[in-house]
Amino acid sequence: PAATAETVAQATVANIAHRGASAYAPENTLAAVRLGVEMKADLVEIDVQQTKDHQLVVIHDTTLARTTDVEQKFPARAPWRVSDFTLDEVRTLDGGSWKDPRYTGELVPTLTEVLDVLERSQSGLLLEAKAPELYPGIAERIADELKQRPWWVQPDPTARHLVVQSFNWDFIRHFHGLLPQVQVGVLGAPTAEQLADVATYSNQVNPHHSAATPDYIGAVHARGMRINPYTVNDPVLMRTLIDRGVDGIISDRPDVLYEEIHNL
Ligand code: G3P
Ligand code: CA
Repeated sequence: PAATAETVAQATVANIAHRGASAYAPENTLAAVRLGVEMKADLVEIDVQQTKDHQLVVIHDTTLARTTDVEQKFPARAPWRVSDFTLDEVRTLDGGSWKDPRYTGELVPTLTEVLDVLERSQSGLLLEAKAPELYPGIAERIADELKQRPWWVQPDPTARHLVVQSFNWDFIRHFHGLLPQVQVGVLGAPTAEQLADVATYSNQVNPHHSAATPDYIGAVHARGMRINPYTVNDPVLMRTLIDRGVDGIISDRPDVLYEEIHNL
């Protein structure tokens, strides 16, 4: 397989904070990223998309409607696609109050801001390229941003822990060609036949937890890849998946997951 060597030794199951510690803080904000760090997540997962002026921003949905106050501030701009707004416009929005009034004023972050926060922490980054088919050139832009920060991409054991993932497997194949030293993962559950091809470029398969049966985990491992199911918030299911031998778990509740991983 084209898979590169693991850059960070992994002694236990990886604790991956989904959209930051998104059970408690507004998903994909710096508050959620910082809380994921405080809760000792090994990696913080974020979703990256692109504005109209080609800036990389951190948001899950392809529209701004659910997680910002865009409908009030720009009522005439339905359906409020991320790709229809400039970064300056996006930065006028409140990305926190929908979750809880105490998060009023949280912004939609840029990828740059998240990298800045994580660089001052012990946590790595699971960067999901969300709907990259909507954003021509986004693979190159993500790769360019990472290349400016060589400590994320250098192929040696001192590199920070970084994985780039997407539901768009063609994107992952392409990104692997751009930055082969960076670990990559496909989201979803490739069939046994597809796993053989995925293993030629990907290091990880990250499926919905319902697909992470003992047989499927074994099939992914047999191809030399890691498996990190999402989104697991129930401690009983966390324990079941740990016992089945998954490599990491993606959770909105990294504090609960920490206790399960470390048997507290
Ligand atoms: O990291 C896995 C998970 O984030 C994929 O689903 O919809 O939360 O991006 P979604
Ligand atoms: Ca995601």
